[in-house]
Parts: sequence; C-alpha cells; structure tokens
Amino acid sequence: MANRVYIFDTTLRDGEQSPGCSMTVPEKLRLARKLVELGVDILEAGFPIASEGDFEAVEAVSREFSWVQVAALARANTPDVERAAESLKHARRPRIHTFIATSDIHLRFKLKKSQQQVLDEAVAAVELARNYTDDVEFSAEDATRTDADYLEQISRAVVAAGARTVNLPDTVGYSVPEEYGALIARMVQVLGDTAIVSVHCHDDLGLAVANSIAAVQAGARQIECTINGIGERAGNASLEEIVMAFKTRHDRLPFETKIVTEHIYSTSQLLAQTITFGPQPNKAIVGDNAFAHEAGIHQDGYLKERTTYEIIEPHTVGVPESKLVLGKHSGRHALHKRAEDLGFTLGKDDLDTLYHRFTALADRKKGLRNEEIVALIHEVVGRAAVAASE
Ligand code: KIV
Ligand code: ZN
Repeated sequence: MANRVYIFDTTLRDGEQSPGCSMTVPEKLRLARKLVELGVDILEAGFPIASEGDFEAVEAVSREFSWVQVAALARANTPDVERAAESLKHARRPRIHTFIATSDIHLRFKLKKSQQQVLDEAVAAVELARNYTDDVEFSAEDATRTDADYLEQISRAVVAAGARTVNLPDTVGYSVPEEYGALIARMVQVLGDTAIVSVHCHDDLGLAVANSIAAVQAGARQIECTINGIGERAGNASLEEIVMAFKTRHDRLPFETKIVTEHIYSTSQLLAQTITFGPQPNKAIVGDNAFAHEAGIHQDGYLKERTTYEIIEPHTVGVPESKLVLGKHSGRHALHKRAEDLGFTLGKDDLDTLYHRFTALADRKKGLRNEEIVALIHEVVGRAAVAASE
C-alpha cells in the first residue's frame, strides 16, 4: 500500500536516554507490551552496548514479543553491532539499527574523521550487521546539517551494502518543514524502491511533528517517534500527534498506520507512571486539558454540539470523556449541567443564586472540584429541598 507509513517507536531507546526517563528491564517489558497492543510496527528496545540493563531489556523484549520487529541500536563499529546482534538472538524479526554522524560539524569536532572514513565505517557496519539479519537500518546522524551530496553518496553506499532502511534524522531539531521535505524528496528519488526512507525528528524548535509530516508528504515511509514526545533534550516527534493528524486530517494527509488509536491514552498514562513526569496539561491529544473546556462560550457551544470545540472524539484516543472544568470563565449552562450530573435539579432562582456565589468563589480559585460545587449547592438551597434523586 503506497500510503502505508511504518511507525518505529523509540520510546524505550531515544526516550529512555533523556533525563528522568530511565527504565528498568521489567518497566521496559511492561511498556513494550502496551506498545505492541498499540500496534507499533518496529519497537526499538535499547542500545545494548550502552549498559548491561539495555542489553537485557532488548533481549527480554525480543524473547517475550518474538513475533514483533524489535530493533537494537549500534554505533557503526564491530563491538556495537555484535552486541546488538547478540541481544537480538531470540527475535524472529530482528533489526540492527546502526548509525554514524555525517555532518561536517560532527566529523570535525566529535569524530575527527574524514567523510571517506565515515563512509567506509558505515558500509562496514552495515555489511557486518547483514551477517546477522536481513533487516538493517542505517542512520546518518545529524543528516539535516550534512552536505546533501555527501548524504546522497553515503545513502547509496549503505543501501548497496545491504541496508533496507535509511534514516535521515534531524538530530538537533534544526530543520524546518519545507527544507526537510525537500531533502527527503531528494533522497526518496535517489533511493527509489531500494530502501525505505525514514525520518527521526527532534523538537528543539517545536517542529518535530511538522517536520515528520512534511517528510511523509515528500515520500518517507517510516517515522521514528515516541509516546508523549519524550526523548533527548526537547524530545522526539510525538507518536500520538502524528497518528492523530493522519486520522483527523485524512483529507489532506491520506496516510495509513497500524496504530490502534483507542490505546493511545492508556499508553501515555503508563509511560507517565513509569518515568518521572507526564505530559504537560496542554499537550495535544494526551494532556489533561486536551479535552477540557472552561470558557463559558466554549462550554455552551460544546454542550449544544460537541464538534463546535472538539475535533477529536475523546474515545477515539481512549480518553474516557471530555471535561467541563468549572472555573471563573464558565457559564451558567455548564454549571446547570454539572449540578444535574451531580444529581441536583435546580429551579431558575436557585440556579441564579448558585451561579452568583459560584462566580464569586471561582474568581478566587483555579477551578472548582465537584465537592466544592456540591457544598455550594447545599449552602444555596439546602440539602433536603434540592436532592432530586433522594
Ligand atoms: O537523533 C538521532 O540522530 C538519533 C540517531 C541515533 C537515530 O537518535
Ligand atoms: Zn534521536
């Protein structure tokens, strides 16, 4: 299917290697189970040479989910590739993901190697990896700051050496959508159907999702991303945002993934419980406020017709329901609805008084909890008189 886009989840690798996100082997296994249920195509479980724990995690994930395509990261050198291969020995569909930096800045200051040396090492690593598996991915780290002719040359060389996927990361989140799209279009044209072009975007300028989408529009067919957008520095492209953009704007983005979107929210929650932080409240799709309405005009519109202020039905991503938050911007319509939900039927005068008291209190607070609303109702109209359900 021409528009099928493969979701390569790197929550357990790029995500895990960022501050506050390290995970134990049992934690990775628990999340891996959830990611499999979510329907990711490729699960990058770790960087086996980096630590004993990472090695064990890749081994455990590929043993337990042997039918899943599990990837292990390796720098382009013999010990890394051999360690990755060893960690994947139980996998039925192992992928070795080998990488080396290709930009002048990395070559000069970090690797202190020439372009030819880097190209030779990349080719050698891919050839070595191919001794262990047919499924080899090569990443040109810092691709977006790499000379494009050299990027083309090294991409052709690793494919000739046996790489099936060529990943062109925006490692430092520097690119902008139009530019990244053009780079990807060039590489898609160069590689034709000899390899899948993959993208991996960091969010340093808040453009990781936009860049990933531009890349797919330009012909990339694998996206590397993470749950809640965790990852190095400002994070990686967020899986849930990309997938829901494809689903919600299928008219403009007619791409297919295998993600079971109803599992998105529970996966996000499980990750938040596993690491030291959750998504910020206003995070798209999975944040606490993503389906919450506080302003009176919005609540009124929402109560008349949900789609006035919601473009996604919360169940589609596994969020139990939208929330009407009662705060100082809320209107009487929402207060009336909340009172009814809480089991109270109020007459017009009572509702007027309640609304008056409510706005006075809400002015001083950041939002009212249900218990506070109930206490106000009791104050205003007296318990016996108002409890319709009693
Ligand atoms: O950001 C990056 O370039 C990476 C590679 C190892 C794929 O994480
Ligand atoms: Zn990365």
